[in-house]
Amino acid sequence: MRIDIVTLFPDMFTGFLSGSLLGQACAKGLIDVRLTNLRDHAEGVHRQVDDRPYGGGPGMLLMPGPVVSCVEALQSDSDHGSGHVVLLTPGGRRLDQSVVEELSRKDRLVLVCGRYEGFDARVAPTVAADEISIGDYVLSGGEVAAMVIVDAVARLVPGVLGDDESARQDSFSGVDRLVEGPQYTRPRDFRGLSVPEILLSGDHGRIANWRHQQAVAATSRRGRAAAATQPVENHDHPSHSRRNAS
Ligand code: 6GU
Repeated sequence: MRIDIVTLFPDMFTGFLSGSLLGQACAKGLIDVRLTNLRDHAEGVHRQVDDRPYGGGPGMLLMPGPVVSCVEALQSDSDHGSGHVVLLTPGGRRLDQSVVEELSRKDRLVLVCGRYEGFDARVAPTVAADEISIGDYVLSGGEVAAMVIVDAVARLVPGVLGDDESARQDSFSGVDRLVEGPQYTRPRDFRGLSVPEILLSGDHGRIANWRHQQAVAATSRRGRAAAATQPVENHDHPSHSRRNAS
């Protein structure tokens, strides 16, 4: 998968992209992440990318010209197709694991980070962009949101995680979208808190059922009762435990 990130602050991504999981995925050629500085597509001696909103109001907006010419320049240069263009903006549709899965099926993503008060409204229709927000709070720019997307998407790309099974069993994955219940590793007793007896029983069928009940309970505690009442698959499968199975 190729991921292009358009930003005024490419330096914000360097540590993030060289981190262990993503760094390895890039080194193995599983994902190809490229940074483009929006400023390089600005015109004039001042390389201006932002301007005041018509009608007044606080702050500055990203001008449509530099953003659109930057996206179009990226789209015309690739063997990965023109890509799925995402504008990171607080007013976009909310990111959740099903959106992450949808994005992970694309061959190429072009993630455009907003700054200032956001994008001129003509950018999205011009580049047929998918506008995405990572939650109902305001960040000072789309860079952190782009990192969230790259992280969540990359771990679904086959081969990025050592164990493909672990992504399928994550919270919010699978048909029922349950969060995971409690998990335990050594020691058996920690400050008077002990590991539930059933996890030590060796009975994989009962363990799988217990885990499923715990996941349903944890999900409904978070106010996702609707998801928790949906029918589930057969949970008697022994591989229901995660990486700490041994
Ligand atoms: Cl994508 N951008 C900004 N600036 N703030 C946000 C966001 C994005 N998602 C949530 N808050």
